[in-house]
Amino acid sequence: MSAPHSFHVKSFGCQMNVYDGQRMAELLEADGLTAAADADAADLVVLNTCHIREKAAEKVYSDIGRLKREDGSSPMIAVAGCVAQAEGAEIPRRARAVDIVVGPQAYHRLPALVAAAARGESAIDTDMPAESKFAALPGRRRVGPSAFLTVQEGCDKFCTYCVVPYTRGAEISRPFAAVLDEAKALADTGAREISLLGQNVNAWGDGDRGLHDLIEAIALIPSIARIRYTTSHPNDMAEGLIAAHRDVEKLMPFLHLPVQSGSDRVLKAMNRSHDAAAYLRLIERVRAARPDIAISGDFIVGFPGETEAEFAQTLALVEAVGHAQAFSFKYSPRPGTPAATMADQLPAAVMDERLQRLQALLNAQQHAFNRASVGRRTEVLIERTGKLPGQKLGKSPWLQSVHLQTEAAIGDIVAVDIVTAGPNSVGGAEVVKAAA
Ligand code: SAH
Ligand code: SF4
Ligand code: F3S
Repeated sequence: MSAPHSFHVKSFGCQMNVYDGQRMAELLEADGLTAAADADAADLVVLNTCHIREKAAEKVYSDIGRLKREDGSSPMIAVAGCVAQAEGAEIPRRARAVDIVVGPQAYHRLPALVAAAARGESAIDTDMPAESKFAALPGRRRVGPSAFLTVQEGCDKFCTYCVVPYTRGAEISRPFAAVLDEAKALADTGAREISLLGQNVNAWGDGDRGLHDLIEAIALIPSIARIRYTTSHPNDMAEGLIAAHRDVEKLMPFLHLPVQSGSDRVLKAMNRSHDAAAYLRLIERVRAARPDIAISGDFIVGFPGETEAEFAQTLALVEAVGHAQAFSFKYSPRPGTPAATMADQLPAAVMDERLQRLQALLNAQQHAFNRASVGRRTEVLIERTGKLPGQKLGKSPWLQSVHLQTEAAIGDIVAVDIVTAGPNSVGGAEVVKAAA
């Protein structure tokens, strides 16, 4: 196979994978390759995969099949991300078209792997090297008005259903100075909003510093107007971080704080190490600091042994919290995790039915949150153009999608009255400044 000149990166899964995909693209460009418009036009296709649920993990194999071209040829294919880490050398055995396998902690070595594959050598790297990949990555290029920045990676929590501790490795925090430098570099490329990412982002620390110190430091960068962070774990929600929601104006009033279940028995079996009451108390404290904060979460239905009464406790917790948005999933047994071999795996039909009921409730809460915001005067960060002439799409401080008519440019922040509410977005009217 000859050395590729162009590439295309396709990312699945969480925001950290999106970030990793951008970093791999920057790395390949620094190595002299050019970005192709799509997979069909690329000599090298990187599938940046997710292993969190069975469906996500299986998707990679159908995607590999689809990369085959009409003349029977296929591009150089690299499988990156969490499936690469979990399945390693098994991937090219199962899908012979795959040339490169690279795990999430080794992707700074991608150019060397591409060169090896071009020479016809084996190119599999699922090491979790002691050196940080971040130090080996090139500078940031323009990524749009809202930028992701990984500050913490890996997980030591070992929830019994979850593959992340195995695919991403142990918890590490990037140094304060390195993160701040990257935030400034992103600001220089035109970013207005920075979302700090980590599997347990609120566990970030460097010496005495906690996540709120990092947020305060980034808030001092003049052109950065908005700061967000995700995903947080209830047990790492420090007092200082809660206070930052009251004190740091640029920290947006939004908190994604997964709880997974409202049943203490299930939470214990999940190894979540907090109960439902502790979660509700935490939400109360956060709301005391920032009354208008939008709460988001993740839920799993049909964990092994979950009874109807235990599921009803999840519905009750959802009622008690009142979400602005949330993600909910059917439990998916993952190879190598303790829950996969627990007794009482539930039938798919039971999970389907519970998921429908939970999603109906969460959707109703999201719609209610959107309706309650009608009449608010707020600010919208313009992120892209809409489908209608003159229409732009952006985000409210509460992470609602807002559509509006405006002449404002991508990256501008405009004053808006929220005037309509749908289930998944709200409509805004730009506040016209009175003529002087
Ligand atoms: N570190 C984050 C996110 C982990 S993955 C956290 O702890 O919140 C994102 C979500 O996927 C999880 O919050 C959980 O709701 C869901 N998830 C993880 N493993 C799963 C599994 N085996 N089956 C179904 N959903 C799962
Ligand atoms: Fe997975 Fe739990 Fe870690 Fe989140 S905290 S990444 S759900 S093991
Ligand atoms: Fe998926 Fe890995 Fe993210 S399993 S959710 S891509 S950490």
